[in-house]
Amino acid sequence: MALYGIQTLNQMSTLEANDMVLYAATVSDEPRFPYRGMHLDVSRHFFSVQLIKEYLRMMARYKMNTFHWHLTDDQGWRIEIKKYPKLQEIAAWRNQTLKGHAGQRKKEFINQKYGGYYTQEEIKDVVQFASQLGIEVVPEIEMPGHASAAVAAYPELGCTGKQIEVVGEWGVFDDVFCPSEITFQFLQDVMDEVIPLFPSPYIHIGGDECPKTQWKNNQLCQELIKNNHLGDEHGLQSYFIKRMEKYINSKGKKIIGWDEILEGGLAPNATVMSWRGIEGGLAAAKQGHDVIMTPTDFCYLDYYQSRNPKEPLSIGGYLPLEKVYSYNPVPAELEAGLHHHILGTQGNVWTEYLSTPERVWYQVLPRMTAMAEVGWSAKVNKDKEDYFQRLQDQYVYWKDKGIHAADKRKELSYNIASGSGKGVTLKIIPTGGYQPILISRNGGKAAIETMPITIDTSVVLEASVEGAEAADHKTFEFEYHKAAGQNITLKFPPNDRYKAFGPGTLVDGLSGNIQSHHEDWLGFAMAEIEIGLSLNKTETVDTLALSFYHSPDQWIYAPAPEKIGFSNGQVRIHPTLVERSQKGNQHTYLYTIEARQIKQMNITIDNKTTIPKDHAGEGNLPWVFMDEIRLK
Ligand code: ACM
Repeated sequence: MALYGIQTLNQMSTLEANDMVLYAATVSDEPRFPYRGMHLDVSRHFFSVQLIKEYLRMMARYKMNTFHWHLTDDQGWRIEIKKYPKLQEIAAWRNQTLKGHAGQRKKEFINQKYGGYYTQEEIKDVVQFASQLGIEVVPEIEMPGHASAAVAAYPELGCTGKQIEVVGEWGVFDDVFCPSEITFQFLQDVMDEVIPLFPSPYIHIGGDECPKTQWKNNQLCQELIKNNHLGDEHGLQSYFIKRMEKYINSKGKKIIGWDEILEGGLAPNATVMSWRGIEGGLAAAKQGHDVIMTPTDFCYLDYYQSRNPKEPLSIGGYLPLEKVYSYNPVPAELEAGLHHHILGTQGNVWTEYLSTPERVWYQVLPRMTAMAEVGWSAKVNKDKEDYFQRLQDQYVYWKDKGIHAADKRKELSYNIASGSGKGVTLKIIPTGGYQPILISRNGGKAAIETMPITIDTSVVLEASVEGAEAADHKTFEFEYHKAAGQNITLKFPPNDRYKAFGPGTLVDGLSGNIQSHHEDWLGFAMAEIEIGLSLNKTETVDTLALSFYHSPDQWIYAPAPEKIGFSNGQVRIHPTLVERSQKGNQHTYLYTIEARQIKQMNITIDNKTTIPKDHAGEGNLPWVFMDEIRLK
C-alpha cells in the first residue's frame, strides 16, 4: 500500500547537514496482522478533535490501521445523538472529578463541571481524516454496563427509575441499562445515528464489567430470565448482547465486545476483544470466532511503564516497553488451524489518570511503537536490540514535534536469583537496550561490571549507565545474613501478579520497598501461608526478623504476631518477639532465639481472618505481602 511505503520512506530518511538523505535500499514488507489498533477512552477525560487527529497521525506513522474510540462510559457520553438531546445536555457533563487515586480511602473531588462531546459533524471530519491515513475508526457504545451517564440523562433506561448523576469517580458502577423495551428502542435509535457515521464494518458494544446487582432485584429482569429460560443474569447479559447484535447485523455491521460477552453464551457473529488475559480470546477462537488480543499484561498502556516513584500518578500495574515489544498475540496454546481467528492486537489507553494531552502522549509513547511492531512484524523479523536502536530516531522526531515521550532509555531493571546457597545473583538490565553497566560499591568510584554479579556480603551498590540522571540510578542495599541466598520452598505459591523474583525473594538480602508493594514483595491472597527455609549448613542463630507490607487502603495487612508459628521442621520453636518497628509501609517483627542451632525453619501464617468493618474491602480476606526473612 502506497501510504505505508511513504511512511517507510519517512522513517528511513535522516537529516544530515540540512539535507534530507535517503540511502538506497530495497524494502519488501507486509503486516503480520490485519488489525493493528490503538484505543482511546474519551469519557473519563475528554480530548479535542485536534488531539484525536494528532493521535491518528502518530498511529499512521507506525502503520496502525484501527482506532478504537471509546465514546461512552459512566463519566460522560461523548457522541451527539440528535434524537436524545439530554445526552448532550446532561450525559456529557459531570459535576465533579476525583482527585488522586481511586484506591485511597478518603476521597477528595475537584468540584467543577467537566465534559464535552463531539458533534456528528466533528465525528465525520475525524472519520474522513482517519480514512485518508488508512485508519478505520471503530466506535464503542458501551452496554449494558458502564452506562451511568446515559441513565443519568434518561433514568427510565435504568432498573431503579431513580435520578442519578453522571459519575465523577473511577470504578465499576451498579446503574446499568435495564433490558427493557425502552432501553432496546433507545439503543437501536442510537445505532441508527452511529452506524451511518462510521464506514468500519465493526461497532464495539462494550459488554465488560456489568454488575448484575440491579438485575437481581428487578422484576422485569427476573421475568425475562424465567420466560426465556436464560438461567441467570449472565444469560440475561447474553440475551441483551445477542439482541443488539441481531439489530446491528441487520444494518450490515458486525459487533466486537470485550471478553465478558462470552459469559452466558457468545452472540453468533461477534468478534471478541480479549482483555482479562488470553483465556477469552482462546475460548472464542475455539468456538470459531474472530479475536483481537488486548490482554492487560501486555497491552494496557495506562499502566506504569517504570517503577520509578517519580512517575506521574497512573492506574497501577507495570508494563515496561520491553514487555510490550515481547508480546506475541497468537497464544502458544492455540492450535495452528485456528490462528487465522487472531485478527490482531491493540494498545488500550484508559484515561482516568490522563487528564491532559501531555499525559496521553507520555503513556502512549514510546510503547505505541512496540505495539505497532507487535502488530506488523513477523515473529522471525522481531529483534529487540534492533528495535531499541531504531527507537533512538523516534525520540528525535517526537522532540521536534514538541511531544514529551516517556524516556526510560537510561533506566535500569533487574533480576535476582537466590537459592543456590552460594550467594545471591543479581542481573541489572538497561531498559533502553544494551549498554555497559557502571557499578559503584559502598560509595566508591563507578566502574563497568559484567552481569550477573554474585553478592555474598553486605554491600551498597549503585548502578547506572553512562549519562544517566541521578533519578535513573538504582541503589541496592544488600544486607547479607545467615539465610541470604538459601533455599525457600512455599507450600502454596503467591499470587501470580505478586511473585517478585520467586520464593528466593524472601532471602535475597534486599528489603521490600517501603513505599510500594509492587517491588520485591511476595503477595499472598490465601488463608494459610507456609514457608520452608533450608540452610545448606547448621547455623547458630540469635535473632530472626520478618517484614510485612501494611496498607489497609489496599487491603494489605501485616498479620498479627500471634498468628505466626515457627518450627525447626520437627518441633515448634518459640522465638521471643522483642520489637515491632515501622518504616513507611514496612512493618518488621524482630525476635530473639535462644541458643538455637538452625538448619531448617518452617514459618506458618494463619490468615483465616477478614478485613474489619469500616475499612476498605471489609469482610474480604486481607492480602499478606512479605519480604525479607533475616537470620543473624
Ligand atoms: C476494560 O478494561 N474494562 C475492558
